[in-house]
Amino acid sequence: MNHRFCVAPMMDRTDRHCRYFHRLLTKRSFLYTEMLHSNAILNGDVNKLLKFKAEEHPLAIQLGGSDPSSLAEASVISEEFGFREINLNIGCPSTKVQKGRFGAVLMREPELVSKCIYAMKRSVSVPVTVKCRIGVDDMDEDAYLDKFIKEVSFSGCETFIIHARKAWLRGLSPKDNREIPPLNYQRVYKLKETFPELNIIINGGIKTIKESIEHLNYVDGVMLGREAYDNPFILTEVDSEIFSEPMHPIRRTDILYKLLPYIQSEIDQGTKISHITKHLMGLFKGFEGAKNIRKYLVSLSNEVQPVDNYENFLSEIAI
Ligand SMILES: Cc1cc2nc3c(=O)[nH]c(=O)nc-3n(C[C@H](O)[C@H](O)[C@H](O)COP(=O)(O)O)c2cc1C
Repeated sequence: MNHRFCVAPMMDRTDRHCRYFHRLLTKRSFLYTEMLHSNAILNGDVNKLLKFKAEEHPLAIQLGGSDPSSLAEASVISEEFGFREINLNIGCPSTKVQKGRFGAVLMREPELVSKCIYAMKRSVSVPVTVKCRIGVDDMDEDAYLDKFIKEVSFSGCETFIIHARKAWLRGLSPKDNREIPPLNYQRVYKLKETFPELNIIINGGIKTIKESIEHLNYVDGVMLGREAYDNPFILTEVDSEIFSEPMHPIRRTDILYKLLPYIQSEIDQGTKISHITKHLMGLFKGFEGAKNIRKYLVSLSNEVQPVDNYENFLSEIAI
């Protein structure tokens, strides 16, 4: 699996509409779903939760949970749906998630994480990977992170996505936990030196393709979250700059054109158009008239219109 450039799992953001849109911008990036708890998959409407379009590949599902057998069962279902990788979330710091004993608190329990990974690996043939932090709270991020990675890799995990900051489990909101604990990229580079046989993907605070290329001198891949979502046009540089594919210049409006058949088919199936257009707001960031375009997209969201109307609108702008 090629993780040289990944778009991060983000709750309420990287849903199937967002991923379809991102795929129009980059063919080679590795995409992730939002986190889904294993129990949601075992007890919920799997078709609704897991369905996606083949065009979204390469695509991984991210699971949350800490019960080895539930995670194994959820992994089997996910593999049957066609996900190419199952990723376990060991990085989410929210209080609710901590109470459920999953996410970042599990960094304190490498044995349990190993059991989960082992159970998942045994049940599926696709890779099982981990997304974690460099530590939590006052944990010694040198010795302890090595111990965690070593133990979990023994259970069969070969790819670790590392958000290069600690999670502080008390007193910080999830949002603050993505901003306040300091970034420590060197620690992630060192991890790659210590475990050269593992795939180490770096995440956290990366904003440009240039920075991504810098990181690739030290690690196997980069993962971008907020910048990819807020400024999605950056993804049009990935295939040529990171994967050396031929460059195909594309305009922002071309992307909207390409999305129209998808929008129409989703509307026909009863999807609320705002569920798609909300992901497009960053596309015109920094452009003159961006505010008007966004206003227009919002106004479209209030009523379903035939696709012709969007085409008329798009033909009036060309950026
Ligand atoms: C709105 C939002 C939702 C997120 N949801 C998840 C999630 O479901 N699973 C996860 O592992 N990380 C989640 N994250 C964290 C990101 O995957 C990523 O690790 C973090 O934002 C740091 O990367 P960035 O600086 O490139 O955004 C979320 C981040 C944001 C902003």
